[in-house]
Amino acid sequence: MSRNVLITGATGTVSTLLMEALRGTDLNLRALVRDESRAAAVRERGAEVFVGDLGDPRTLPAAFEGVQDVWLLPPNGPRAPEHSSNVLWAARRAGAERVVRLSAVGSAHDAPTRSGRLHALSDHEIERSGLRWTILRPHWFMQNLLNEAGDIAGTGTFALNIGPARIGMIDARDIAACGARVLLDGPDRHHGRTYTLTGPRSVTFDEVAGDLSAALGRPIAYLPVSDDAKRKSLLDAGVPAWIADMLEEYAQAYVTGWGDFTTDAVAEILGRAPRDVASFARDHAGAFTSGR
Ligand SMILES: NC(=O)c1ccc[n+]([C@@H]2O[C@H](COP(=O)([O-])OP(=O)(O)OC[C@H]3O[C@@H](n4cnc5c(N)ncnc54)[C@H](OP(=O)(O)O)[C@@H]3O)[C@@H](O)[C@H]2O)c1
Repeated sequence: MSRNVLITGATGTVSTLLMEALRGTDLNLRALVRDESRAAAVRERGAEVFVGDLGDPRTLPAAFEGVQDVWLLPPNGPRAPEHSSNVLWAARRAGAERVVRLSAVGSAHDAPTRSGRLHALSDHEIERSGLRWTILRPHWFMQNLLNEAGDIAGTGTFALNIGPARIGMIDARDIAACGARVLLDGPDRHHGRTYTLTGPRSVTFDEVAGDLSAALGRPIAYLPVSDDAKRKSLLDAGVPAWIADMLEEYAQAYVTGWGDFTTDAVAEILGRAPRDVASFARDHAGAFTSGR
């Protein structure tokens, strides 16, 4: 019998790609959205849609009824552990068998970022949940570069406060592919495993600019800026202060070399190498040209 899987964060970056990766497979896709007006696009990806809010447990039971597998993607923010806990509780009460949880690179109680410390709380909760579980801890998403698409299209430059640091960044399509593989492999094969997912190489943003230049056929330059300058531009663009603070903590950690590593986890799960920045840049050249 095919399994029912509930996808949380269904309108976001990774879960959207995950649903694309799972479409047409044996799994029956369900998706949780918090805003009915965004349900139509999710339905088009082949999922049965339920409306619910991870911050309000009363809205969750219907989506979890009859589900065997849960994809738990906690949105960024100070309430992430509460959201994650609400999902685990709803999964337990509904008799679900397994949860696959998206965490973050370096999740630990002594992580240098608030996001890493909050993820650690939820990682430990799932490990003790009595459910089958798998944790995916991805590195910096290449898709974060799409936040710079407007500047890249308009000025041929992008500004980050990460200096000359190297990061083992990963294409979110590979995170989704790993999530899909884990879900399709059934509840036992990856139970109790925590995978730190990275791209194939640890790269600087000058090297990223080189790959963007090659993909777009015009020079693109990386402009290292101060924490204060980046923070101001994020706040001016309407990014919440908590997120701006979190991004600054990551940037400061990366500058110390904290993110300068890769792992073999993607190859272990998928049996192929992860995508590199050059292929990400080629596949998203349209966005970097139009700015959208
Ligand atoms: N970006 C990185 O480099 C990076 C690296 C490692 C780990 N991560 C982790 O990745 C996760 C974010 O993944 P993402 O970028 O794919 O997410 P995303 O694009 O920010 O999407 C977040 C999703 O969560 C939904 N959501 C927000 N609040 C909700 C609520 N109260 N109830 C129900 N749904 C809610 C959003 O729905 P709406 O459409 O309604 O807003 C959206 O579908 C975070 O846990 C982060 O720590 C990120």
